[in-house]
Amino acid sequence: MAQITHTYILCILFSLLILIVHSKQLDQKKPCKRFVVYYHDILFNGTDAANATSAVAVNQTNLGKFNHGMMVVFDDPLTKDNHLLSRPVARAQGFFFYDKKDALNAWFAFTMVFNSTKHKDQKKPCKRFVVYYHDILFNGTDAANATSAVAVNQTNLGKFNHGMMVVFDDPLTKDNHLLSRPVARAQGFFFYDKKDALNTWFAFTMVFNSTKHKGTINIMGADIFAEKIREFSIVGGTGDFWMTRGIVSVTPDTQQGNYYFRFKMDVKMYECY
Ligand SMILES: *[C@@H]1O[C@H](CO)[C@@H](O)[C@H](O)[C@H]1NC(C)=O
Ligand SMILES: *[C@@H]1O[C@H](CO)[C@@H](O)[C@H](O)[C@H]1NC(C)=O
Ligand SMILES: *[C@@H]1O[C@H](CO)[C@@H](O)[C@H](O)[C@H]1NC(C)=O
Ligand SMILES: *[C@@H]1O[C@H](CO)[C@@H](O)[C@H](O)[C@H]1NC(C)=O
Ligand SMILES: *[C@@H]1O[C@H](CO)[C@@H](O)[C@H](O)[C@H]1NC(C)=O
Ligand SMILES: *[C@@H]1O[C@H](CO)[C@@H](O)[C@H](O)[C@H]1NC(C)=O
Ligand SMILES: *[C@@H]1O[C@H](CO)[C@@H](O)[C@H](O)[C@H]1NC(C)=O
Ligand SMILES: *[C@@H]1O[C@H](CO)[C@@H](O)[C@H](O)[C@H]1NC(C)=O
Repeated sequence: MAQITHTYILCILFSLLILIVHSKQLDQKKPCKRFVVYYHDILFNGTDAANATSAVAVNQTNLGKFNHGMMVVFDDPLTKDNHLLSRPVARAQGFFFYDKKDALNAWFAFTMVFNSTKHKDQKKPCKRFVVYYHDILFNGTDAANATSAVAVNQTNLGKFNHGMMVVFDDPLTKDNHLLSRPVARAQGFFFYDKKDALNTWFAFTMVFNSTKHKGTINIMGADIFAEKIREFSIVGGTGDFWMTRGIVSVTPDTQQGNYYFRFKMDVKMYECY
């Protein structure tokens, strides 16, 4: 932590400057929707929990002197102008980590979460099915039964597991019985990202390997606990789901303490080939 001893703000302007530069080179078409927001990140320094919006969840490696490997989990405000204290129009929930040994450089994955307008009617999916996702968190002794485990402990930012990351290889079943024969597996991770409420962020792949379906569906998104139905993006696919995109509507189905939970996943593809 020696390199980062003070709080700092990153103000990143998603100004599409990069896009503009590229558009000259690649002659891209005009955006069908466009806006500017400012992203504010205040890194937790150990005492400013009320103010901080992110915290180090994984420390740096010893590769170089530029925080290589350090991972920061955030739930950051997005504002219309560049004032930190302006009313946020949305939140950015996700993580970044430093990835270079010889310079500062970071890699981001996050979701912009808007909660001000109703979304439009969607067109009909071209493929659709329901699966149930079962997650049994390893408790230290039930390795035969468990399907996931805590890979990164929580930070000290708040009391809602902020920064805790769980890696899973979970069964997906056609009905809601844990012991039904899995039709696929969900392989990936989630982590808690809020300091003042339970909330997680998921990235995983549905892996199908049966006589019926072979292929993968890649999924990511904010698991917004305040919503009854959460929506993840299908960002791509392979095999029987080649190049697909769509939405997974996720409904919490049951929860047993910290050790088992089940989601109903309504998988809706809007691009099929
Ligand atoms: C953390 O930040 C707060 C507010 O900026 C400051 O008052 C405090 O001294 C800092 N604490 C440490 C340990 O740097
Ligand atoms: C919150 O953090 C920002 C950025 O470090 C700082 O400018 C501001 O003074 C802090 N506010 C409080 C109340 O600590
Ligand atoms: C990172 O290292 C510091 C000491 O170097 C330690 O206090 C802190 O708990 C570590 N954080 C994580 C997330 O491992
Ligand atoms: C872990 O779970 C198993 C099976 O549910 C239970 O028998 C065992 O007591 C639990 N162990 C701990 C340490 O909680
Ligand atoms: C998390 O913390 C517990 C003690 O609080 C420790 O036993 C465990 O090894 C830690 N796990 C990781 C992944 O750091
Ligand atoms: C997929 O199924 C085939 C045939 O049952 C098997 O040989 C192969 O190991 C399976 N692959 C995975 C990743 O489970
Ligand atoms: C979104 O706004 C609605 C209505 O104001 C509220 O009930 C709901 O809790 C909000 N969801 C989130 C995730 O903040
Ligand atoms: C496996 O975990 C589930 C969910 O916690 C529990 O209902 C079941 O009893 C466990 N089975 C065994 C054999 O421990």
